[in-house]
Amino acid sequence: MNHVVDLRSDTLTRPTAAMRQAMADAPVGDDVFGEDPTMNELQRRVAELCGKEAALFVPSGTMSNQIAINAHTQPGDEIICEYGCHIFNYEGGAPALLSGVQLHPLHGQRGVITAEHIQTAIRPKDHHFAQTRLIEIENTHNRAGGAVFPLDEIQKIRSLADEHDLKMHLDGARLWNAYVATGISLKEWSVCFDSISLCFSKGLGAPIGSILVGSAEFIDCAHRYRKIYGGGMRQVGVIAAAALYALDCHIERLAEDHKRAHQLALKLIELGAYVDLEATQTNIVIADCKGCGRISSEVNSELARHNVLAIPVSPSRIRFVTHLDIDDDDLAVAMNAFECVLS
Ligand SMILES: Cc1ncc(COP(=O)(O)O)c(C=O)c1O
Repeated sequence: MNHVVDLRSDTLTRPTAAMRQAMADAPVGDDVFGEDPTMNELQRRVAELCGKEAALFVPSGTMSNQIAINAHTQPGDEIICEYGCHIFNYEGGAPALLSGVQLHPLHGQRGVITAEHIQTAIRPKDHHFAQTRLIEIENTHNRAGGAVFPLDEIQKIRSLADEHDLKMHLDGARLWNAYVATGISLKEWSVCFDSISLCFSKGLGAPIGSILVGSAEFIDCAHRYRKIYGGGMRQVGVIAAAALYALDCHIERLAEDHKRAHQLALKLIELGAYVDLEATQTNIVIADCKGCGRISSEVNSELARHNVLAIPVSPSRIRFVTHLDIDDDDLAVAMNAFECVLS
């Protein structure tokens, strides 16, 4: 069978032999009773990395975001977010369904909404309006091609949130990538937020799981919602061990994914596609094929015939994601396929 270079997502990674060994060796206990030593260690470590009091492991990034939304809001509240963000586009309408809140999405640039823009969207305290309660930010931003949200703008948004007594949640599914791309530590990002969600199952290459971080009081509340959502699990040390292994061995190597994504972007540009290189700071490349006179579904099918998989994200745009299972040989195969299909 031909080797397939799968650039559809960084969620496709399979646990390495060493990660599987760490999973097999993990001491375990019942995590609903708080007695899984490996999970307790994971939660302690991530809380410390983020400079927060506590952390809570959850099965997915979606559950993590939705628990945070539930814990920060009351039904009838409103959340300000960016138009392309995950909670607005890809979480099945969960904020309305599970928390009874509405989203107020603002059009940003490369996933970035400014404090100035947000200020205009905060509802006055008037009974005609939903109550603005939470500001949600995504970093790195998936639909914006893995762009990093600038820290100085986040700091301005934090000041604005404090003035208006609003909470801030970070969807940091790929915050590890933002850290590696900028050198800005998890603590420096996290200090601006009341809660942060991070994923182990994307660039870090673990098979399952996300983690929510915040104050002890917030995490206590999140723990209740996790139970209600059916996210309390038992001998989860086997999963926590994969995440701990990823913390030790798979963070710094994200730089390799970023380098390969940049190389893919340059090749696509050379072949006439449009890629916003300023947004391409991490492991995601979004190429617009209009310049080559092509539509994305057609390019995608032709690439698949060359054993390269991607995802069309609009009629003209196609997304490629580099990750742990993509090496330099795969990169060469992908570039060769781009030449065959686009030139
Ligand atoms: C930015 C972002 N947030 C949240 C999620 C949701 O994660 P999960 O698929 O684990 O629910 C994703 C998934 O790709 C994502 O890209």
